[in-house]
Amino acid sequence: MKKIAVLTSGGDAPGMNAVIRAVVRRGIFKGIDMYGVRNGYKGLMSGDFIKMDLGSVGDIIHRGGTILRTARSERFKTEEGQQMAIAQLREVGIDGLIVIGGDGSFQGAGKLTSQGFPTVGIPGTIDNDIAGTDYSIGFDTAVNTAVEAIDKIRDTAFSHERTSIIEVMGRNAGDIALWAGMCAGAESIIIPEADYDDDEIVKRIQQGQERGKMHSIIVVAEGVCKGSDISVMIKEKTGLETRVIVLGYLQRGGSPTSYDRMMGSQMGAEAVDLLIEDKKGIMVGLKNNQLIHVPFEDASKDKHTIDMSVYNLAKSLSI
Ligand code: ADP
Ligand code: F6P
Repeated sequence: MKKIAVLTSGGDAPGMNAVIRAVVRRGIFKGIDMYGVRNGYKGLMSGDFIKMDLGSVGDIIHRGGTILRTARSERFKTEEGQQMAIAQLREVGIDGLIVIGGDGSFQGAGKLTSQGFPTVGIPGTIDNDIAGTDYSIGFDTAVNTAVEAIDKIRDTAFSHERTSIIEVMGRNAGDIALWAGMCAGAESIIIPEADYDDDEIVKRIQQGQERGKMHSIIVVAEGVCKGSDISVMIKEKTGLETRVIVLGYLQRGGSPTSYDRMMGSQMGAEAVDLLIEDKKGIMVGLKNNQLIHVPFEDASKDKHTIDMSVYNLAKSLSI
């Protein structure tokens, strides 16, 4: 292993820069020439490489987004696209690739490995929806951003005695909604992993009113429905004044928390070490607070699950 390249792919996530820094610095520490690929697989197919030295990753550990930029590419899903990418890597003499991204990105990384190009993955997505790992970079920052926002919304909801419905990100997974909802004390949390019942949502609001609580917080994951759908339902059933807030891309930006920087640093260095040890076709993951190695096939074929005991606990605490 003489030359290693790193790219970020799919949706960006706070902490990706901490990973890039760790990958580049660990590689240089081990005597390897390090390269960055701009714009994910799209840039890989067109050979958009940049040489990375120690200074190129200075002053980025605290910055959200990704200095390498990211992209989604339909062409890379084809074998022709993957062959183009491998040809570009070989032309520069790169021996191994590190992909920071989510489940889709790892399906692509798995294809590069099975076509003979050594690739290792690092989980990076605010959704935390990757099977085989308890954690993906960006989740902690996104949850903290959502909680801070909901705390502010609660202040004004209290003053005006309103019901606020907050729609958070999470395409297929309710992790952000569950954690943000629990930590911000939401009355109801609506996630794709659990059925929800309109009457139960209304009952929870009414129970609060009976004990003099005239405002309510409801958190809904975007993968279930729009916040406005819940708002219409509540208005129809109760006549209460509601407001809908879609947190959107706010959750994807911002300075990463210390946890995301720590995990990013550890996972980044581990990925470099794996390639040096000739290990490939795997994602670095976290289980029971230990770094683990998960074959890409497992990360793609298994389904991410949510801790339903946390969901049930949240329900029992918001009575
Ligand atoms: P994420 O990695 O965050 O899940 P996407 O699902 O959008 O994000 O995937 C990022 C990119 O990974 C896609 O734009 C595509 O280039 C590549 N990719 C996704 N699925 C596959 C696949 N089945 N085969 C090859 N490449 C894929
Ligand atoms: O996967 C991360 C994520 O932020 C999801 O929560 C969200 O649904 C999606 O990306 C949005 O993607 P885009 O950047 O294409 O709008």
